[in-house]
Amino acid sequence: MLVDCGSREPRFIEVVREIRNELLELAGVRQSDGYEAVPMQGSGTFGIESAIGSLIPDEGKLLVVVNGAYGRRIVQIAERLRIAAISLEFEETELPDPGAIDTLLRDDRSITHVALVHCETTTGILNPIDAVADLVSRHRKVFLVDAMSSFGGIPINVAEKKIDVLISSANKCLEGVPGFSFVLTRRELLENSRGNARSVSLDLVEQWEALEKNGQFRFTPPTHALLAFREALRELREEGGVTARYQRYRNNHTTLVEGMSGLGFESLLSPELRSPVITTFVEPDDSEFDFTKFYEHLAARNLIIYPGKLSRAPSFRIGTIGKINSDDIHRLLTAVREFSS
Ligand SMILES: Cc1ncc(COP(=O)(O)O)c(C=O)c1O
Repeated sequence: MLVDCGSREPRFIEVVREIRNELLELAGVRQSDGYEAVPMQGSGTFGIESAIGSLIPDEGKLLVVVNGAYGRRIVQIAERLRIAAISLEFEETELPDPGAIDTLLRDDRSITHVALVHCETTTGILNPIDAVADLVSRHRKVFLVDAMSSFGGIPINVAEKKIDVLISSANKCLEGVPGFSFVLTRRELLENSRGNARSVSLDLVEQWEALEKNGQFRFTPPTHALLAFREALRELREEGGVTARYQRYRNNHTTLVEGMSGLGFESLLSPELRSPVITTFVEPDDSEFDFTKFYEHLAARNLIIYPGKLSRAPSFRIGTIGKINSDDIHRLLTAVREFSS
């Protein structure tokens, strides 16, 4: 990031080309198989808004399967863009029921697209993309997956999993810095979506066409974030790819959950629902527990956790992704023990 690079320079264009190819490779597909990687300026939400607003035609209708705040955000995006949308809601602590999705798709033939969040970061629950993808493809609908907090840290083969559109960003499991998101999709879908976009800057199809034409973003790209991302991808390769990273995150998660349990903090979700990405802990039933003090105690030791995002039970969340390993988790557990004693 200390290198200054012009956005229209050949060496920067080469960086963008490498990144686009490598993102497809991470998803187990290639341009020659008919897939495209389209980076989009802005955070993850910008990528989602770009995909929703560009790939769904005026006569389309989106079904959003919701079990957390990020699913609800997709509904909000569709509504704001005046795209017909319905949601199928589940508890934040339960997996969506593919049977209910199947019934809805059978009953409402006007649905054209289905969206699901892979790892619902609200709780850390890992949603069943395989089962949902199977039935969405059986009904011949377009399947969009918000893989913001899972892509790069949990293996996902876009073609095998029958995902038509996957959206993620630079700064979660891929361990880059914030600044852009990206959409992985089938070229045919982009070609058939010309003129759909409800926004100029978030027009995914025009973004893709510009990148194909001269390798450049239409508008100023976050050059430093892209340069940093190329390094992040190199680090991922050096680590042994997504499978190795998944293993490291799993170890972090297991160490965390076991250690926290020993200190009296129980996780909200049952083990089979949890992802290795982020874990929600229920606040202890102890009137003395003060989250703000807990947070400040940890932050003073450079250990940053998240408040809870649940509508009900008071809770907090601890992330286990990023450049951390079990030594960092042990350091955290020591600090939690100090606070508790
Ligand atoms: C599953 C999921 N979707 C969407 C987002 C939104 O991403 P951003 O905050 O980068 O806009 C997040 C952010 O944490 C997320 O975890």
